Amino acid sequence: MKTFTSLCAGLLGIAAGLAHAGDGSDSYDLVARGRYLAELGDCTACHTLPGEAPFAGGVRIETPFGDVLGANITPDPDTGIGRWSFEDFQNTMSRGHARGGKRLYAAMPYTAYTKVTREDNRAIWAYLNSLEPVHRKVDTNQLPFPFNLRTSLIAWNWLAFEEGEYQPDPGRSAEWNRGAYLVQGLGHCGSCHSPKNLIGGDKDGEFLTGSPLQGWMAPDITGNRHTGLGRWSEAEIVRYLKTGANRFDMASGPMAEAVEHSTQHWKDPDLAAVATYLKSLGDPEQPAPEPLAKDDERLHTGALIYEDQCSACHTPNGEGIPNLFPKLADAPLVNSRDATSLIRVVLAGSRAVGTDAAPTAPAMPSFAWNMTDEYVADVLTFVRNSWGNAAEPVTAEEVKAVREEMEP
Ligand code: HEC
Ligand code: HEC
Ligand code: HEC
Repeated sequence: MKTFTSLCAGLLGIAAGLAHAGDGSDSYDLVARGRYLAELGDCTACHTLPGEAPFAGGVRIETPFGDVLGANITPDPDTGIGRWSFEDFQNTMSRGHARGGKRLYAAMPYTAYTKVTREDNRAIWAYLNSLEPVHRKVDTNQLPFPFNLRTSLIAWNWLAFEEGEYQPDPGRSAEWNRGAYLVQGLGHCGSCHSPKNLIGGDKDGEFLTGSPLQGWMAPDITGNRHTGLGRWSEAEIVRYLKTGANRFDMASGPMAEAVEHSTQHWKDPDLAAVATYLKSLGDPEQPAPEPLAKDDERLHTGALIYEDQCSACHTPNGEGIPNLFPKLADAPLVNSRDATSLIRVVLAGSRAVGTDAAPTAPAMPSFAWNMTDEYVADVLTFVRNSWGNAAEPVTAEEVKAVREEMEP
C-alpha cells in the first residue's frame, strides 16, 4: 500500500500542493502547472496557427480519411470553450466527447490523453481559461462523406479505443511510471510512432515500433537493438529530445516540430523518465537480419554514388560528424523496415531543427533533380547494407512512388 501511495504522490506530484488554502497564489501555481502540461501535450501543434493568437484553432491536420482542423480552445463563449464546464473538458480529454456529447475525431489525440489524470486536466483547464478569449469560428470537420458523419465514430471507438487514466505499475520505479505516463498520455508519442491498423487505430503489441506518416517514417523508439533505440544511452535520448540532435541523429519533419514546440521545453527529470521507459521496451538482444551479399551489383553502383555524392558530409565510413551530419552507420532509422523517410530525405533534402539549446541547423541538399530513381535506390540499398546496417533493398519503384507523392 505504501508503495502505491508514494508512487501516486510522485506521479501526480503536484496534486498535493493544490489542497493548500491560499491567497490566490495557488491558482497562479495551478495555471503555471497547466501551462507546462499543455507544453507536454503539444496542444499548440494543432490549436495555434503560426504567428496568430494562441489556441484560436485553424491548424489543418491531414488524416488518411481527409482533413480536420484544430478547434478554437480559447475561453470565447461563442466560438471557443467559454461556456464549457470542467466536466465537459474532462470528457473531451478522457473520452473524446466534446460539450453536448459531440464525438471528436481521433486527430485530437484523446486516445492517448485518456491516460491523463483528472488532477492534471484540472490544471490544463485552469490554464486554458486564463487565456485571452479569441472570437474565431473554426469549422473543424472538413472530411468528405461518409467520414464527415460523426456517428461513424461510435463504431470506431468501440473497435479502437480503450478509455481510462494511466494505472501505475507498482512493480516498477516511480521514474519508469512517470515516463510511461508521459509517453502514453500527454506526449502521445504512439500517435506517430505506433503502427496503425486499417481503420487508423493503434495495433496491439506493437506499441512504438514505428509507422509511416505523411511521407515520413516515425521509427521504432523502443529499446530494440537493431531497429530501435537499443544502442542509444538514456543520456543520448534526453539530448535528442532536448536539442533535436545527438551523435546518432537529428530530428527533421514532424519530429522537428515536436521537438521545437514540445520536448525542448520538458524538464530534464521528465525527459530522463521518458528515456528510462523507452529503453525498457523491446528487445535489447534483437538479432539483425543478414545484409545483402557483398557481390550484389546494387551495392557496387551504390558505393560509387555514395563516394561521389554523400561521403563529403556523412564521411566515407558512414560515421558522420556529431551534431552536424547524421551517422548512417549502424543507425536504427537507416534500418527501418519502411524506407520512405530515407527516400524522401535524399529526394527533397532536409533541414534539421534549430532549438534554444542548439540554434543553428545544418541542411541536407536535395538530389531529386540530379539522381534517377535507380540511383537513389542503389545508394540507399548500399547505405542500408553497409557498416553494420542490414535491411531490405530499396527499389526504383519505391523511389518513383515517393517522388510522385512529393510533386504537387
Ligand atoms: C494532433 C493534433 C492535436 C493535438 C496535439 C491536440 N488537439 Fe485538441 N483537437 C484537435 C482537433 C483536430 C480537434 C477537432 C476534432 C473534431 O472536431 O472532431 C480538437 C478538439 C479539441 C477540443 C474540443 C473543442 C470543441 O470545441 O469541440 C478540445 C477542448 C481540445 N481539442 C483540447 C486540446 C488540448 C488541451 C490539447 C493538449 C493537451 C490538445 N487539444 C491537443 C487536434 C489536436
Ligand atoms: C507528429 C508525429 C510525431 C510525434 C507526436 C512524435 N514523434 Fe518522434 N519522430 C517522428 C518522426 C517522423 C521521426 C523521424 C525523424 C527524422 O526522420 O529525422 C521521429 C523520430 C524520433 C526519434 C529518433 C529516432 C531515431 O532512430 O532517429 C526519437 C527518439 C523520437 N522520435 C521520440 C519521440 C518521443 C519520445 C515522442 C513523444 C514525446 C515522439 N517522438 C513524438 C514523429 C513523431
Ligand atoms: C552537404 C552535406 C550533405 C550531403 C552531400 C549529403 N547529406 Fe545526407 N544529411 C545531411 C544533413 C545535414 C542531414 C540531417 C538533416 C536533417 O536532420 O533534417 C542529412 C540527413 C540524411 C539522412 C537522414 C538520416 C537521419 O538519421 O535522419 C540520410 C538517410 C541521408 N542524409 C543520406 C544521404 C545520402 C544517401 C547522400 C548522398 C546521395 C547524402 N545524404 C548527402 C547532409 C548531407
